[in-house]
Amino acid sequence: MERIYITTPLYYVNAEPHLGSAYTMIITDTLARYYRENNSETFYLTGTDEHGDKIAQAAAQAGLDPKPFTDRISATFQAVWDACGFSYDHFIRTTDEYHIRYVRELLTHVYQAGDIYFDRYGGLYCFGCERFYTEKELVNGQCPDHLVAPKLIEEENYFFRMSKYQDQLLRHIEAHPKFIRPEGFKNEVVAMLREPIGDLCISRPKTRLTWGIELPFDERYVTYVWFDALINYVSALKARGEEFFQKFWPHSEHFIGKDIVKPHGVFWPIMLLAAGLPLYKHLNVHGFWNVEGQKMSKSLGNTISPLEMKEKIGMDAFRYFVLRESVFGQDADFRHDNLTARYNADLANNLGNYVSRVLAMQQKYFAGVVQPLGAIWADEDVKLRDAFAAAECDLKCQMEELQFHRALEALWSALDQANRYIVQTAPFTLIKDISKQARVGEVLHHSLEVVRTLSRLLAPFMPDTAKELRGLLNIEENSSIMSTPWGEGFVAGHKVNGAKNLFPRIDTEIKK
Ligand code: MSP
Repeated sequence: MERIYITTPLYYVNAEPHLGSAYTMIITDTLARYYRENNSETFYLTGTDEHGDKIAQAAAQAGLDPKPFTDRISATFQAVWDACGFSYDHFIRTTDEYHIRYVRELLTHVYQAGDIYFDRYGGLYCFGCERFYTEKELVNGQCPDHLVAPKLIEEENYFFRMSKYQDQLLRHIEAHPKFIRPEGFKNEVVAMLREPIGDLCISRPKTRLTWGIELPFDERYVTYVWFDALINYVSALKARGEEFFQKFWPHSEHFIGKDIVKPHGVFWPIMLLAAGLPLYKHLNVHGFWNVEGQKMSKSLGNTISPLEMKEKIGMDAFRYFVLRESVFGQDADFRHDNLTARYNADLANNLGNYVSRVLAMQQKYFAGVVQPLGAIWADEDVKLRDAFAAAECDLKCQMEELQFHRALEALWSALDQANRYIVQTAPFTLIKDISKQARVGEVLHHSLEVVRTLSRLLAPFMPDTAKELRGLLNIEENSSIMSTPWGEGFVAGHKVNGAKNLFPRIDTEIKK
């Protein structure tokens, strides 16, 4: 049996969920649903990253101790993701007991193996990134992410021998060209590994920071937040037993945004090598969302809230838009005029109209009762069925390559064909001729097959719509009818429900 282990980054609890984090959730949720539909054993993990300076500072600003603060924001993340209907199997918090225990276990192992050493170090430290910078990495003397000059600090700390594993990782990436994808990000990591990477400072003295996992071999220190958080991908599996880990880890698919390629593409695989664990299968990197051509930021007040989107256009329309409008691995732009235009063209006109038109005719001409198909099908009937078979095949290839926009394009091109089929066969004209009634029954039967097929193929992308379509067809949840071949789904006398306007047109542009 096929298996897949899908992970998202753990979200920092210093900000509320927004389009950026929602995007990772939408692609991973779509994939998880896709694999489940195809009977793959799936484990889908998300959660929150709760230790470190940044969080301690955010808690202090909110006037709370870190733990109650993280409890609150982590619960908000869970509540928002649940309201969005994301189907994760487990939500991990880096403050969870089992995670802390496993991080300490792994640290002990690496320490005892000699890959962690104690040293005095002076360097340029960015408090925003919680890491030391080399001169070369700075832009005009500033941290490229936070645009502030890092502070020169000197302290005694523990270091992880990353450089020892540098060549081994480089060789692995060269032997597995899709280890990090798309290719541009792999090249980025390869370029990093061709330069000296040095060793990684993995401790923070408690005199400076107490909010973290205490080092098992020195109680004066806590663990560097990235060394703690990355381990979640393994600790979540190990918490369910060694067998569970063995079962899912070889199928691990990490999903992250492009700003965190270095920790995931360099630190994490080297941590795995040092811990004697197998490397993950793939690191899948997505681009950034801008809003109306501008960087999305709280200070600009242009962040997009997933719950607001749900309220305005519905979760499925929001999912459709972000999946259809972006190319995995590239940056995308969230434009409200595009959102309105796509909603009206693809969802209201194309999908919505088609479904309501077919169901309205079925109701009007046959009181909802599905009519039999003849033994011989007309050419246009065969063409219609073949268009959906081709779309399904294309969709499968596109999903394997994470080309969500192309997968949807394939479905919508079959839907175009379905709309043309109605125009060509013109059941609304044929019905006026009593001798053609049986043919009208056939045309509508094929058109209902379109709706049944759509409800199956759309399920990973637009789960609520898929469910609604099944309801309109009067097909029960998990019915075996969903997987029967075209033309064999509806038994004689099956009655479908009346039309419904699934996506009412939007007349005034959706605004922020
Ligand atoms: N806590 C770390 C990840 C640790 S994983 C062991 C982190 N958290 S984050 O909350 O800052 O970011 C979470 C994810 O949101 C990252 O993948 C990041 O790339 C993504 N995004 C943040 N802003 C984004 C956009 N504007 N667009 C798309 N994704 C963006 O980093």
